[in-house]
Amino acid sequence: MTDQAENLRQKLTIKQRQKSAKTLCFISGKGGVGKSNVALNFAIELQQQRKKVLLIDLDIGMGNIDVLLGISSEKTIADLFEKGVPVSEVTNTSPKGVDFISGGSGLKTIFNLDKQKRETFFMQYNKLVGEYDYIIFDIGAGVTEDSMHFILAADECIVVITPEPTSITDGYGIIKHVVTNQPDMPIYVVMNRSRTEVSGRKASRKFKQVIWNFLKKDIKTIAILPDDKFVSMAVMKQVPFVLLNKRAPITIAMRNMVKNFLAIHSPDTNQEISLSFIQKLKALIKER
Ligand SMILES: Nc1ncnc2c1ncn2[C@@H]1O[C@H](COP(=O)(O)OP(=O)(O)O)[C@@H](O)[C@H]1O
Ligand SMILES: [Mg+2]
Repeated sequence: MTDQAENLRQKLTIKQRQKSAKTLCFISGKGGVGKSNVALNFAIELQQQRKKVLLIDLDIGMGNIDVLLGISSEKTIADLFEKGVPVSEVTNTSPKGVDFISGGSGLKTIFNLDKQKRETFFMQYNKLVGEYDYIIFDIGAGVTEDSMHFILAADECIVVITPEPTSITDGYGIIKHVVTNQPDMPIYVVMNRSRTEVSGRKASRKFKQVIWNFLKKDIKTIAILPDDKFVSMAVMKQVPFVLLNKRAPITIAMRNMVKNFLAIHSPDTNQEISLSFIQKLKALIKER
């Protein structure tokens, strides 16, 4: 009896010590809106706020997180999916300690993997959930069946748009997809490349209104990010902009984004929800 009680106590202590990552998906309707730059710099700023962050490049075939960081990684997410290479071997550490997994080209979707490989991936992923506060996916633009499963299994989605009409309509399209399949998914919007704060606010208010009118979904804007020449300079130098220039308008706006994000997320809401990422993914695969 005492042994049992002791076992239980030990299990509880381990559980309390363990992290339980929240899974965030960065998505966009169309490419080229700045999603990868936003996701990467957000991840770095979040890590600077003493959160442990893992960034996973899931923009299959078009992944470029490693290029933005100027780090070439030998192993990619494809090795994890297809060859069952342990997460520790596919995970790279970037400056300032953000861990990342590179996107692979020619990657089979996880739904085309055999059952055993899929189970290996799930096991590996569950390990990660215990090690990080946040696991962030940079998902390719648009919707594929595969990426949609990841999106729907996530805890939250962050949609990156710009004030351009094409980005707005495509952003609407992807949100509609998500809301149709998962009405309760928390959705946050980043308005990137605003010419002014005022025009960015105006465009994002309009977007929010359209989403409410047509989809009856309440979305929250967590950042208005300026169009800033430092972004392209940072890309050229292969150094994330938050590290390249601490005073650039884009860096200040990104710091605010992280502040806004953390203000919405109190630490204890992180618990149980995200443990179910794999459960949700499994359920979605079964539904097919
Ligand atoms: N806030 C910004 N200000 C200026 N240029 C930007 C900004 N965000 C993105 N860009 C430009 O857009 C390009 C594409 O960004 P990227 O993050 O690769 O887009 P995506 O991942 O959506 O395809 C960048 O290389 C940069 O030149
Ligand atoms: Mg990208």
